[in-house]
Formats: sequence, structure tokens, C-alpha cells
Amino acid sequence: MTINDRDEEARAILRANDRGGYTVPNGRVYPFQWNWDSAFVALGFDTFDRNRAWQELETLLGAQWENGFLPHIVFWQDDPGYFPGPAVWGTGRTPVTSGITQPPVAATVVRKLWDSAEAAGDGGAYRPRLAALFPKLLAWHRWFRDFRDPEQRGVVVAMHPWETGRDNSPEWDAPGEPIDISNVGDYVRRDTSHLDAKMRPTKLEYDRYLALVQFGRATGWDHGRISRKNPFRVADIGMSMILLRANRDLAVLARVLGDESAAAELDDLIERAERGISWLWDDKTGTWCSRDLVTGRHSGFITSTSFLSFYAGLADPARDAATLAHFDRIGASVPYLMPSLDPADPGFQMIRYWRGPVWAVVNYMIGTGLTEAGETDRGERVRGDTRTLIERNGLYEAFSPVDGTGSGGDDFSWTSAIWLAWARQPRS
Ligand code: GLC
Repeated sequence: MTINDRDEEARAILRANDRGGYTVPNGRVYPFQWNWDSAFVALGFDTFDRNRAWQELETLLGAQWENGFLPHIVFWQDDPGYFPGPAVWGTGRTPVTSGITQPPVAATVVRKLWDSAEAAGDGGAYRPRLAALFPKLLAWHRWFRDFRDPEQRGVVVAMHPWETGRDNSPEWDAPGEPIDISNVGDYVRRDTSHLDAKMRPTKLEYDRYLALVQFGRATGWDHGRISRKNPFRVADIGMSMILLRANRDLAVLARVLGDESAAAELDDLIERAERGISWLWDDKTGTWCSRDLVTGRHSGFITSTSFLSFYAGLADPARDAATLAHFDRIGASVPYLMPSLDPADPGFQMIRYWRGPVWAVVNYMIGTGLTEAGETDRGERVRGDTRTLIERNGLYEAFSPVDGTGSGGDDFSWTSAIWLAWARQPRS
């Protein structure tokens, strides 16, 4: 298959997964609108249909709650092929949504879309759309400040593994132990009827996911109560880095729109995060990693999101050197970067979801961050590996870092988008 064939296939997947204003991650396994998937998908549409790219985010932000919260799933229409569906979440909203959020990549994507519209001379036409999206993005970022950072450290505290977007990362194992699963009851998973169970989270993990949904539901999805009482509260390194980056991009957009007071407010949030994120540096392992708010313990796991400090715009010579040393060690140990878990970890599994496989969207963030920070060779290594994985194996959900096999669903929307927007360019 040539590069041009792959381009055509990627565009066809985005069109086929388009449900009219929003795109499903994959028609069988994930038949609704997912928050961070949609943001990445917009980057793909932007390469061939600018209007459709903006529409993807406009639709997503159309499901925002009045407190600024932006759900991780929007159930625009029901589909029996997914569990837990709208009835289990019970948020009582129209449209029906889940009650937890996902990594806030949207503001960074909107900035990219805006820059691309401007560069094409379309700024005038898209400025009103930017002005309409801006206050919604700002409200969501304020929601993070108010409901996902109970100690006001400038980090993001996840209330559910699904919130982090890295469902079964080992980072959630120890913090998940106190979750009471005795009342979860019987349920039928749908994911394992679409896909090989070896690629998916375990039953114990699913029980915990559902117990947390039940907890949130019992509070009536009161985000204030959840942030104080939830049995799972983990400062997530991925979301913390992503929000820091997103606040920087949103501050730029505030200035584009001439909103100095919003820009100053965002500058304060950025400063707080730049100071506070040190709390997520683990000296013992010499890495950025997630940390349990309940016990104060660092996870100690080196995951793909440990390498997002460059994307977040953090520059600290000693920590950067330690991070790059891990990068080089892992890069020498597997042919394809960046495994979602350090292959030297005893829990590494090359096809089990977020315990080993490479994800194109995370690679996109790592690679662009490294390149922006002047680490162009390493940035190109990540991009080139992403390109080879997709070119040789197809547009899968994730890939083995060891032999490149595709895992999870095929015909995947965000992998298609990242191919078109970033990975496809030849190695430099
Ligand atoms: C899985 C992934 C999550 C993604 C969703 C839809 O739950 O872990 O990050 O948003 O699938 O693709």
C-alpha cells in the first residue's frame, strides 16, 4: 500500500465514522462521541474539510453542562453495542452524557485550527466561530480548577481511570484497591464481544470502573461532592501536562480575541501549574508520574505520558536530562516508540491496551513537544515510528511496540486523523 492509498483510506474512515456533526471513534466498539477523540479527529478533518473540523468541536461543546463540565462521552443516540450506556450513567441530561470528563486537548486543537485558518487566509470567516468557542473552553478549564484540583496544586486529579483516557494503566492499580466492588452486581461487557479479551482491561478493573460510576451517580453527579469524597483521587500526570499546555494555547487565543482579563486569568493558572507540577516529579525513579492524592504515593511508573513535559512547555535541565535518558533507554529496547508502559517494567504487556501498546495520539503529543523544545531528532524518531507502524500495519487503535501488530479496533478515527495531520510526512 502506498502513502497515498493510506491517505485515501484515512479520509474514508473519517467520512464513514461521521455521524453528522460528530465522529465515532470506531463504529462497532465505540458508537458515540468521545471527548478527546473528537478533538484529535478535528485535526484530521482540517487537512481536507476545514468547516467539518470546526463543527466536530462545536458539536462536542454543545454538550457542555452549565457548570462548565465537558463530558467524556456524549450519547447523541443510543446504541446497544456499548456498555455502560446512557441508562447506567443516569446523568439525566439532554443530550445524555457521562458524568466524568477526559483529557482537555480541545483548546490546543482549536488553536491549531485557528492558525491553519489564518495561514490559509480564512481568518475573517472563522473568527466568529473562534469567539463562540472561546468562552466554552474557558468555562471548562475553570471547571478543572474548581472540581479537579481539590488541593489547588495546579494539577488535575482524576476521579475515574476513564477520565485519564488511559483506562487500564497500572498507575490506577494501587489507588484502585480501596474501591468497594461488592455491590457492583452482574453485568455484561460489550467490548470483549467485539475484541479479544487479552487486549482489554480485566474483570477486576471493570468492576472498579462501574463502582465509581455508581458512586458518582449516587451523588447525582455533584462534582463538588465527588471531588471531596470519591474513593479514587489520583493526580494524573497526563491530564496535568495536557491542561498546562491547553491553558497556554487558550491564553494565546484570548489575546487573539483581545480578551486581556481572560488572558491574565489563564496566565495565573499557568504559573500555578508550573510551580505545582513539581509535586508529580518522582525523585526515586527520576520521572514524571501520577500520584495518589489519598495516600500521597507516587506511582513510580514510567508511562508514555511521562514524556509530555516538553509538550507542556516545562523546561528544567536536570529533569529534562533524566527524562531523555529514559527516552533513549526505552528507544534502544523496542523498535517502535512510545510504549504506554516502560518495557522494563514487569507488568509490561505488548498487546494489553494501556500496559504496553503504542497510541498514535500520545505519540503526536510527545513528538510535537520534543520538536518544539528543540529535541528534533527524538521528535522525529517518535513521528517516524508512528508513520512506520501505520504504514505497515493499518489504522488500528494501538500497536505493539515490539512487533508493530495492530491491537484493539481497526478503522480507528483518531489514528486516521493523526496519520493525515502529522505522521504521514516522510522521515526527514
Ligand atoms: C478507550 C481509550 C480512550 C478513548 C476511548 C475511545 O476507552 O482508553 O482513551 O477515548 O477508548 O476511543
